[in-house]
Order: sequence, then structure tokens, then C-alpha cells
Amino acid sequence: MSKIPMLQFALDFITLPPAIAVASVTAPHVDIFEIGTPLCKAAGLEAIRAIREVCPDNLILADFKTPDVGWLEAKMAFDAGADLMTVIGGAPMATVESALKTANEYGKEILMELTGVRDIIAYAKEWRQVGIEWMVYHRGWDEEASNRQWSQEDLDTIQRLIDMGFKVTATGGLTNESIPFFQNIPVTALITGRAIHAAKDPVASAIEIRSTISRLWGAPQPDYLSSTGSNSDFDVAAKAIRWGVGEMDLLLTTDGRDCPGCDDPGHFCQGTQTGIFVPQGINTDDLIGAIERIFGPSNAFGKINHEAFYLDPAQITNFTPAGVIQLLAATGNALTGLGHRVDLNSGIATANQVLGN
Ligand code: 5RP
Repeated sequence: MSKIPMLQFALDFITLPPAIAVASVTAPHVDIFEIGTPLCKAAGLEAIRAIREVCPDNLILADFKTPDVGWLEAKMAFDAGADLMTVIGGAPMATVESALKTANEYGKEILMELTGVRDIIAYAKEWRQVGIEWMVYHRGWDEEASNRQWSQEDLDTIQRLIDMGFKVTATGGLTNESIPFFQNIPVTALITGRAIHAAKDPVASAIEIRSTISRLWGAPQPDYLSSTGSNSDFDVAAKAIRWGVGEMDLLLTTDGRDCPGCDDPGHFCQGTQTGIFVPQGINTDDLIGAIERIFGPSNAFGKINHEAFYLDPAQITNFTPAGVIQLLAATGNALTGLGHRVDLNSGIATANQVLGN
């Protein structure tokens, strides 16, 4: 099984404040922040500095798509706090080499941006020779608008680039629904912009996309899941969590009043994570810390924002139904330990019923 691709969130804004606002809340759920080309043009190096300040733990990519004077643009990006920078595929080799020389001096990375490159493999051979290691495989917005679809040919080219030794990131109108298209390819990162920043709830969208990525590229499925050949056991586990926490009188962040029910294809909760409001008087970080002390470190739970957290049984390492109950129990015990009593026995009984235990 390949390494889990990173999630890169493209901040394609034309002013800085909304970029800072969305970056600061999505930071825990994203690996790389891309300072999108429009933002680079609108706010320049200030955008890199600002995102570096509010997101000190994320990688930052400056999507300059540099066409000339590679060394200077690389120096400007890295001095401002970027870790990675793009050079446009059509740039002369002298520009590629000068940007790369600077990146090597800084211990940072240059990515070749493939937008508009017609003979990708021929160029890739030359870039490989000068030492380029990363590239961005991109279906541009204008291409997307003129109805260019992702195709098998794209996957074949990406795979060839990976076989040549490149780390490839892929982007261009990706959504939670289109992520599975790349499932069999060991890409280094998947990049989404609009799917997160234009979503009604960007944090929930980032969590959902990252969870889809780790589910699709994650550890091999346990036997009991592969016997069904589907993700239905994860869905059942998610239902057990939802019903269990409901029984514990915790409120889901999804308003389910008009939901046709977990077993209906039109059910409101998307994916396998359940967003839950933190009961009043409890600090979200304290709750996450308490769950971690009981359950151990895991992506199966985490903070959404100051008022909500999530449980995602599909992220449990070595997933079993018993693990789902342990996750629920850890949550209930953590809450009780912080002074908010819940009816854990009823919650567990309901979850066991849903799991068929
Ligand atoms: C446009 C870009 C975008 O950052 C990239 O396409 C990701 O954005 P989206 O997911 O909205 O397509 O580089 O040139």
C-alpha cells in the first residue's frame, strides 16, 4: 500500500483576510497551504508571511508559476517563509536551473507546473537530468471550463512520471467525489482549492477530503472488511457512532431533523466522520487531550473548531467493531472526567446493536 498523499489546500483568493481566516481554522486538517497564484499577485510576499505566521506547522507552497529570473523569485518566496515554489513548465531550462540552485541552497523544493506543457515526458527527462524532483500535474481552470475531463491518459502520464522518480502532485477541480479517481496512483499530494474554500463549511470539507484520502490510500483493509468488498462496514461503524453519541445526549453538528435516516442513500451525514458539538463549559482542546490519553493518538478523533470535534471510526488503526466501541467509550469517559456526565452504558448498548454485536 502506498504512502498516504498529503492534502494541499490552494488559497486562491484575491485578498488576504479571507485566506488568513480559512487557513487558521483548517490548518489542523491540511498538510500544505498553497498561496494560490491569484493571491500571490494580489498580496505578494505578505501573503506568504501572513500564512506562515498563523500556520507555523504547515508546509507552504508559493504558486508563483515563475517564467523567468528563477533564482530571484525562489529567494523571495523562501525568504518570506515558503517551503516549496512552482516554476512554469514552459520556462527556459536556465530559469529552472537557477530556481533549483537557490532551492538547494535553502534546503527547499521547486516544483515544475505542467499547465500548458504538451510533451510532458520529453520535458520531464530534461528536468530529471538537472535534478528536479517534484511536479504539479494540473488540469487548469480554463481547460476545465472548456470541458476537459480527467482521463485514463492523465493517470498513465502521472504514473510514468512517478516511475521516472518524480514526486507528483495533482490538481484541477478536485472534489471529495473525484479523489477516488487517483486511488491507485502513489501521488505525493492531492490539491483542492474551491472544494474547500468555496464549501459552506470549509473545515468539514477539509476533514472529509483528508479522511477520504487516508481511507483510500491507508492501511490494508482488515479481513472482516474485505469480505464485503466495500466500505459498508465503515458506514455501519459511523452509524454506530452517530446513534451512540445521540443516545449519550450529545448533539451532532449536522442538523438531522429532516434526515431520511442513516440507511437511506439521501442521508445527511457525508463520509464516515461525525461532527459533534462540545458540551458547554468544556474546552475542545481539553476534550481532545482527554480522549487521546484514553484511546491513544489517532486520526479517529480530532478538533473541528472551538465548539466541535469529530469521531471517524474509519481512521482507527487495525479497525474492528471493538475499536469502534473503544472510541465511543473513550469519548464518554473523557467527557465524564471533564465533569460532563453522559449515559455511556446506553450509548455503548445502542452502538453494539447497530454493529450487530
Ligand atoms: C489554478 C490553480 C489552483 O490553485 C488549482 O487548480 C486548485 O484549485 P481548484 O481545486 O479550485 O481547481 O493553480 O491555476
